[in-house]
Amino acid sequence: MIKMKFLVIGGPLILGILAAVQSTLAATCTITSYNEDLIKDAEKNCATITLNGLSVPAGVTLDLNLNEGAKLIFQGTTTWEFFEWDGPLVNITGTNVEISGAPDHLLDVRGNLWWDGKGEDGDIIKPVSFVVHGLQNSIIRDINIKNPSFHAIWIEKSDGVLAQDVYVDSIDGDTLGGKNTDGFNVWTSNNVTIQRIRVYNQDDCVAIKSGTNVVVKDCYCSGGHGVSVGSVGGRVYNIVENVSLSNIDVVNSDNGLRIKTNYGTTGSVTNVTYENVTLKDINKFGIRIHGDYGNHSAGATGGVPIKEFTLKNISGTVKETGTNVYIQVKNASDWHWTEVNITGGKVIQECYGIPEDSGITCC
Ligand SMILES: *[C@@H]1O[C@H](CO)[C@@H](O)[C@H](O)[C@H]1NC(C)=O
Ligand SMILES: *[C@@H]1O[C@H](CO)[C@@H](O)[C@H](O)[C@H]1NC(C)=O
Ligand SMILES: *[C@@H]1O[C@H](CO)[C@@H](O)[C@H](O)[C@H]1NC(C)=O
Ligand SMILES: *[C@@H]1O[C@H](CO)[C@@H](O)[C@H](O)[C@H]1NC(C)=O
Ligand SMILES: *[C@@H]1O[C@H](CO)[C@@H](O)[C@H](O)[C@H]1NC(C)=O
Ligand SMILES: *[C@@H]1O[C@H](CO)[C@@H](O)[C@H](O)[C@H]1NC(C)=O
Ligand SMILES: *[C@@H]1O[C@H](CO)[C@@H](O)[C@H](O)[C@H]1NC(C)=O
Ligand SMILES: *[C@@H]1O[C@H](CO)[C@@H](O)[C@H](O)[C@H]1NC(C)=O
Ligand SMILES: *[C@@H]1O[C@H](CO)[C@@H](O)[C@H](O)[C@H]1NC(C)=O
Repeated sequence: MIKMKFLVIGGPLILGILAAVQSTLAATCTITSYNEDLIKDAEKNCATITLNGLSVPAGVTLDLNLNEGAKLIFQGTTTWEFFEWDGPLVNITGTNVEISGAPDHLLDVRGNLWWDGKGEDGDIIKPVSFVVHGLQNSIIRDINIKNPSFHAIWIEKSDGVLAQDVYVDSIDGDTLGGKNTDGFNVWTSNNVTIQRIRVYNQDDCVAIKSGTNVVVKDCYCSGGHGVSVGSVGGRVYNIVENVSLSNIDVVNSDNGLRIKTNYGTTGSVTNVTYENVTLKDINKFGIRIHGDYGNHSAGATGGVPIKEFTLKNISGTVKETGTNVYIQVKNASDWHWTEVNITGGKVIQECYGIPEDSGITCC
């Protein structure tokens, strides 16, 4: 069912002008059950599209190619029927658009239908949830995603994205077999800001796989694998440059903060800064910088250089069974670490490749 309301702004004359000049931008449309034709129609004709309580059929992507300047609002509870595939469940593109959730909304992926405790290595293929692709100068805000089957959000091939006030709740995954439930992944994008997010999951809270001019700030990450740059290397685009991650609390997670570059690949990681990060009850590694991702044999390190790497005011605790700081890199240079104070971990690892004269030590 589709309801179209044309906004009447000052009588027939103005409405007539609006209709003639930009009739496509004058409609507010609400869709209350999944119908591809209605969605295509709304994409063309509506300035504001509200998707209210949709149940998306099995194996179908909720695909939206929004008009310039359009607003997309999720309302009620959105669900997807179970299907074994890699998704995505949502794929949105547009310019100057705003994607948001109404206060009561929930994107309830019901990932427990797919979870088998094995994530991407399991026999069940699991869809990624929410993808924005080629998004330009746009906002994603106030989105709640529950129990993602696999990665929750991908920002890919986009330029100019502000994502804020996003809540990823995969707490159930702790007891029901959730794995690889990444919060945010950023791929091949420029000018991305991710702020005021809360992620409770079983993998990276945020992972910057590639991208330039990325800001991540004011985040709370619980239960997962911490905040990551990477893994970098081995894909079509393997550049990470100008990334600032700050004011982040990571609690009860496997790692605090990481940079990971894939073994035996090319690419570069330049000008990454982590600042004002607090860690609490980290299980494995407080800080882990590794160029051997995918090959953990002793001495194996990739060639992806990590340059201009700043850590400032990083503090907190690792459990006794973990390691405070672990570094295994090659080709690294220009590192600046100040006010780094991670304590509690009792397992000492041997480090490789720390830039000379940087004063940084493993502990
Ligand atoms: C999202 O849709 C675009 C086309 O608009 C496509 O190129 C891209 O591959 C899709 N993303 C995923 C993850 O399927
Ligand atoms: C970066 O993206 C934001 C949000 O879309 C936009 O407002 C801003 O103009 C962009 N900045 C540049 C330098 O393109
Ligand atoms: C490093 O990135 C920051 C943004 O995170 C930027 O302000 C700064 O100018 C960059 N430094 C260099 C040397 O490019
Ligand atoms: C990184 O930031 C610096 C300083 O703002 C800028 O000159 C450079 O172009 C940026 N790099 C990229 C890849 O945007
Ligand atoms: C260090 O970071 C914490 C947040 O993690 C912040 O509360 C504190 O003010 C920062 N201290 C300095 C000296 O920047
Ligand atoms: C880190 O915290 C200090 C003290 O609160 C603040 O002055 C500084 O701006 C913060 N840094 C960032 C990148 O937010
Ligand atoms: C892992 O690294 C070791 C040491 O450099 C090397 O001998 C081995 O071939 C590598 N394994 C793989 C799978 O690349
Ligand atoms: C170090 O990085 C440079 C590019 O910055 C590359 O040419 C060189 O092969 C790398 N060296 C190693 C040992 O990986
Ligand atoms: C480092 O942190 C510990 C507690 O986590 C604290 O006892 C110690 O004083 C701190 N050291 C410095 C130099 O700030």
